[in-house]
Amino acid sequence: MLEEKLRQLGQDHIVKLLETGAGFVSRSEIEKDLKEVNIPLIRDLMEGRHLYQEPALVQVKPAPVVPASFSTSPEAGPYRAHGEDLLRKGKVAALVVAGGQGSRLGIDAPKGVVGVTPVTGKSLFQLHAEKVLALSRKYGRAVPLFVMTSRVNDADTRDFFARHAFFGLDPQDVFFFVQGMLPSITLDGRFVLSHHGGLFMNPDGHGGTLAALRKNGCLDIMRARGIEEIFYFQVDNPLVSICDPLFIGLHNLQGAKMSSKVVRKTSFDEKVGIIAEVDGKTRVVEYSDMSDDMRYALDAEGRMLYWAGNSAIHMIRRDFVESLTSSAMRLPFHRAEKNIPALDSAGNPVEIRGIKFETFIFDALPMAEKSVTLEVIREHEFAPVKNMTGEDSLETSRTLQSELHKSWLKDLGVEVSDRSLIEISPLAALEKDDLASRVKSLPAKIEKDMYIQ
Ligand code: UTP
Repeated sequence: MLEEKLRQLGQDHIVKLLETGAGFVSRSEIEKDLKEVNIPLIRDLMEGRHLYQEPALVQVKPAPVVPASFSTSPEAGPYRAHGEDLLRKGKVAALVVAGGQGSRLGIDAPKGVVGVTPVTGKSLFQLHAEKVLALSRKYGRAVPLFVMTSRVNDADTRDFFARHAFFGLDPQDVFFFVQGMLPSITLDGRFVLSHHGGLFMNPDGHGGTLAALRKNGCLDIMRARGIEEIFYFQVDNPLVSICDPLFIGLHNLQGAKMSSKVVRKTSFDEKVGIIAEVDGKTRVVEYSDMSDDMRYALDAEGRMLYWAGNSAIHMIRRDFVESLTSSAMRLPFHRAEKNIPALDSAGNPVEIRGIKFETFIFDALPMAEKSVTLEVIREHEFAPVKNMTGEDSLETSRTLQSELHKSWLKDLGVEVSDRSLIEISPLAALEKDDLASRVKSLPAKIEKDMYIQ
């Protein structure tokens, strides 16, 4: 019975509204909201259990990192070849997490539909799908694409792919799966009424990927298809090098369970988590958990000691996800205080401060016995779109994409005007070397914006 469930959770204010028959509260919506929710877990979270505890940063040092320079050394060859071999054998899946609410961007649509490329304005989903298609062509084997959505954007995401004929991918190779939701609460622990008449819910964080893979049968699909490795990335980074063979090879040959790509922090104060070794385990230390001593620490040469910023790109073994999700293991929940659009007790729209509970994928890192951390050049692989303007925005991301593609052309001897915007389709080249064979067909000098397809 709904009322009983609500009372057990201390939500008498909602029961009262239901009893008074307030028109802005919908019984069926609230029932729908709570249907999928793990009630004992909610109670635990509200009583302070399963919450993330800041690690004691006593035994802490930088994690060993494979430097970016490794990628051009002869030693990288066998690892890259191994990664390519796994791709050719169909053992790698790409997984994009796209279930977030994208609140900073402030659009009423899935973030993946936002047009981000500098010349043609291709959406993030199109760009990622074309990279996966190009990979499948390059290695002669389909790379399945798993797309994590949440209740808020699942239908729109599926619809977007369907309307665009899956951007050339075979629909049989694309798997949408929905992550879990949790009710957000007020600072004093009350559920929040939402505009749709139900409760304000939030997706359970990108850490929800693990449980959602199991719950939606994706691990079974992967096992049946012979997938051993998962390339995990976030929807909002157009520069991600999906299924980079070197990263796959390093991670797999070294027997790692979960690995990460890192980028050099731009400044001591850049608000990004870093990868460190804490108590002998590799983990992400969030910016807010770092003491000033740690944040500003220098190495023997006077450079930033904790520079290895988490780029949220990981390799994860399928059997690692299986073992994590078959036990009672739970990723810890982080409490994030955010502004939430709500209804007050009279049904008026208000914005309140509330708490969202979320898990983070990187909290699985210390559970991996072995982990590889690979540095990549930031400008080559990291240009997230978090905001419309300013830092990590559509503007900065478009510029970074264009600059990277311009640098490919310049390295191949093409003269490009500083004012031109350049966009190279993943179907034309996934990396600079793929472009070499095309260079003869390009003009020697480019003075206008140009899309190379
Ligand atoms: P962010 O933490 O940047 O969140 O997610 P967001 O929802 O995109 O944006 P804000 O914070 O509300 O402005 C990083 C990545 O993790 C995914 C997002 O879709 C994005 O790809 N994510 C986040 C999920 O898939 N599920 C979640 O519950 C949270």
